[in-house]
Amino acid sequence: MTLDVPRLRADTPGCEHVTHLNNAGSSLPPQPVLDANIGHLRREAEIGGYEAYDEQRDRVEHTYDALARLIGASRDELACVENATRAWDMAFYSFRFGPGDRILTGRAEYASNWIALRQVAHTTGAAIEVVPDDEHGQFDVAALERMLDAKVKLVSLVHVPTQGGLVNPAEAVGRVTRAAGVPLLLDACQSIGQLPVDVEAIGCDILSATGRKFLRAPRGTGFLYVRKELIAELEPPFLDMHAAAWDPDGSYTMRDDARRFENWETYVAGKIALGIAADYALDVGLDAIWSRNRALAERLRSALEEVPGVSVLDQGATRGAIVTFRVADRPAAEVRAALASERVNVSVTEAESARLDLDERGIDELVRASVHYFNTEQELDRLVELVAG
Ligand SMILES: Cc1ncc(COP(=O)(O)O)c(C=O)c1O
Repeated sequence: MTLDVPRLRADTPGCEHVTHLNNAGSSLPPQPVLDANIGHLRREAEIGGYEAYDEQRDRVEHTYDALARLIGASRDELACVENATRAWDMAFYSFRFGPGDRILTGRAEYASNWIALRQVAHTTGAAIEVVPDDEHGQFDVAALERMLDAKVKLVSLVHVPTQGGLVNPAEAVGRVTRAAGVPLLLDACQSIGQLPVDVEAIGCDILSATGRKFLRAPRGTGFLYVRKELIAELEPPFLDMHAAAWDPDGSYTMRDDARRFENWETYVAGKIALGIAADYALDVGLDAIWSRNRALAERLRSALEEVPGVSVLDQGATRGAIVTFRVADRPAAEVRAALASERVNVSVTEAESARLDLDERGIDELVRASVHYFNTEQELDRLVELVAG
């Protein structure tokens, strides 16, 4: 299971230029992803966009197979969209909630999801309720069990939050929601490509993900999984002539696969490259990726904890590739800027990305260093030296 890190770095052009510890923001694509993306753009310029699509149709279709393999789904349960938020929204806004319905979410909930939840609660009269965290700072599965009843119409779970190393116990949540017959909507935006994610093992009914983060695909790509049996029950909030057909009698018929959640015009080069990114992750091996990511992140946490004035903020019984910290008396933006001047990329997360969690913990901002398997131990040591000043 040991990865050939020098080879993986040689395959990643960005490694020559930066120490990239912002993989939770947008990772560095590997060469095959870059080639697929640029290659298709070039082809569009050479022969025309529609003609390039016709020529490369098999490669576009391959993306559905690759994503299906990545998450243990079937190709007709997948829709390719422009990002994780749009994927999540297309599924979420398809539910028909009414007054008295309950929607459960967790403290890790992401800002964009929360805003959508609140909007829908406002317009439908459904109630949003927050499942508390357990003693590890993760979604409390026992509390969820107690909260479930016939009024609960959906459970929304963020697998890995934007704001820390926490990996929520998705499989335990899935066991409970499945037993209760309540759909589980899993935001896998930060977990896809970081760790093995299998929709059957988890028991989720819907999964949203982005390409650019740990999957290392181009920006502007994402995908949605909807379990086959659920697709027929969900009418997307937007339909176009790709998602549905205009019938001669003036009515319309929706597609019966998950592409009813897509739209006609799309970033074809990105979509092809998204499939190549999924192939790449599968070739490297998700188990090996996960084990290296955890080891790197734990090493970084331990080293940062030794630096006077630094507090590491990550929670959870299982912690992944996102390492978050604060430096006493130094604004997060200043820490980020100082690192950027040494070509070390990290990011800043502010409370408004995840208020349920960060407000509760009294954290207004934090520095986020997110590792990925192609990072080296030396890069982590360099970060720590720079933070220590
Ligand atoms: C947990 C989580 N969910 C959703 C999103 C939104 O993803 P996107 O920007 O691809 O829509 C993010 C982005 O950082 C995230 O961290």
